[in-house]
Amino acid sequence: MNKRQKYRDLINQTFDFPQRDFKEEKNTLFWNDLPLMDIIAQYGTPLRLTYLPKITQQIQKARRLFNSSIANNNYSGDYHYGYCTKSSHFSFVLEEALKNKVFLETSSAFDFEIIKRMEERKKFKKEQYIVCNGFKSDAYINKIIEAFNNGFKNIIPVLDNLDEVDKYSSISEPMNIGMRIAAEEEPKYEFYTSRLGIRYNDILPLYEQKIKDNPNLQMKMLHFFIDTGIKDVNYYWTEFHKALGVYCDLKKICPELNTINLGGGMPIKHSLAADFDYEYMINEIISQIKITCNNEGVDEPDIFTEFGSYTVGESGCVIFGVLGVKHQNDRETWYMLDGSLMNNLPDVWGLSQRFIMLPINKWDDDYKHVNLGGITCDVGDYYNSDAHINQVYLPKIKPGEKLYLGFFNTGAYQDTLSGYGGIKHCLLPSPPHILVDEKRKNEFTYKVFAEEQTAESMLKILGY
Ligand SMILES: Cc1ncc(COP(=O)(O)O)c(C=O)c1O
Repeated sequence: MNKRQKYRDLINQTFDFPQRDFKEEKNTLFWNDLPLMDIIAQYGTPLRLTYLPKITQQIQKARRLFNSSIANNNYSGDYHYGYCTKSSHFSFVLEEALKNKVFLETSSAFDFEIIKRMEERKKFKKEQYIVCNGFKSDAYINKIIEAFNNGFKNIIPVLDNLDEVDKYSSISEPMNIGMRIAAEEEPKYEFYTSRLGIRYNDILPLYEQKIKDNPNLQMKMLHFFIDTGIKDVNYYWTEFHKALGVYCDLKKICPELNTINLGGGMPIKHSLAADFDYEYMINEIISQIKITCNNEGVDEPDIFTEFGSYTVGESGCVIFGVLGVKHQNDRETWYMLDGSLMNNLPDVWGLSQRFIMLPINKWDDDYKHVNLGGITCDVGDYYNSDAHINQVYLPKIKPGEKLYLGFFNTGAYQDTLSGYGGIKHCLLPSPPHILVDEKRKNEFTYKVFAEEQTAESMLKILGY
């Protein structure tokens, strides 16, 4: 006879569980110790949550690991943690990150409006670094120059193409600049070389021809960001070493160069099965840079990072309720959600991104194989495979019962891509958004950042 299998058993057999951020008590899920069922009882579903302390925890963890690795390797450069605003521009995210004195990485002209407000509110100082990436429009260039002239002297525009340097000709005192190296893409990708940055072979000539003799441009930083992320794989290390080689070659002719910017791409947890070894990876980065620089006889550079997902990803979750169950044939059962995956988690649809998805109640119930259906009419609005397995299992629902589930670590990019508060597929409103802070261990405070979007707000955008 088959022993009855509860959802809890499935999780315990598949993963090491409980984990740092996830535990189960009395058949319900806690995330960062938050009593999710109580939160649902108060605010309903669908719902967005941001657990603010996670942002500080992430920054502190990376700083601790970089700094201890620097100390252990007797490395002579410093580490600087930056936050890349594009991963979430919300004021509460910026404010939490800036409590930790991070520098900021910008990607467009509008970022400077955020920086201006943060400076006015005394959350950001003019002396802090601002690293400006991207292929820049005239408006963006003007904002960079304006900020520099207004006293943000530690701004560092990172040249993304060969012509950009000419656009800083109006600068009348020395300004730091950087150059981004265009990485070779992963072999499985459609292109050979990233469209972002300057080709390896053009870096030294650009310096020689346009920067070396310009007294107002100080070539301080070499930027290399491997878009597929920081991973302990051959491809990452090959690109990393190519870029280090360029750094050393450039350093030999450009004494003011003293910084390597590793960009973003520090991974976050998208599966309960994943366990990225941050300590090993960071230590490897520091020791590889040291060994290469020592072999080449150049000083060890300062290291900048601009982690976006890593800073804010694990602070967010989206919670749905199951509105109803549909059996469309003998094998396919759909749990129909009270919100849309496509609207609220666009990476699920656009990139087949997997997030940690778990039920919030009914852990003591039998489970079954299901598909999750978003409530829009779009055929693509579904979720049917977890990161560790090509299927989704959730507790069975008996008539009259309610099941809730959460997608976790969704705090980066989803709001930006879905156009938070704008027009959504099938005119579904943006769900309410609750900010959670923690004054003391397990003493939570809740603040409604946004109520559910109103019909009025959408109709206004639509011109009614
Ligand atoms: C230049 C640059 N830095 C940092 C980031 C942040 O990347 P991530 O969110 O993977 O940390 C990006 C992302 O696109 C980027 O383009």
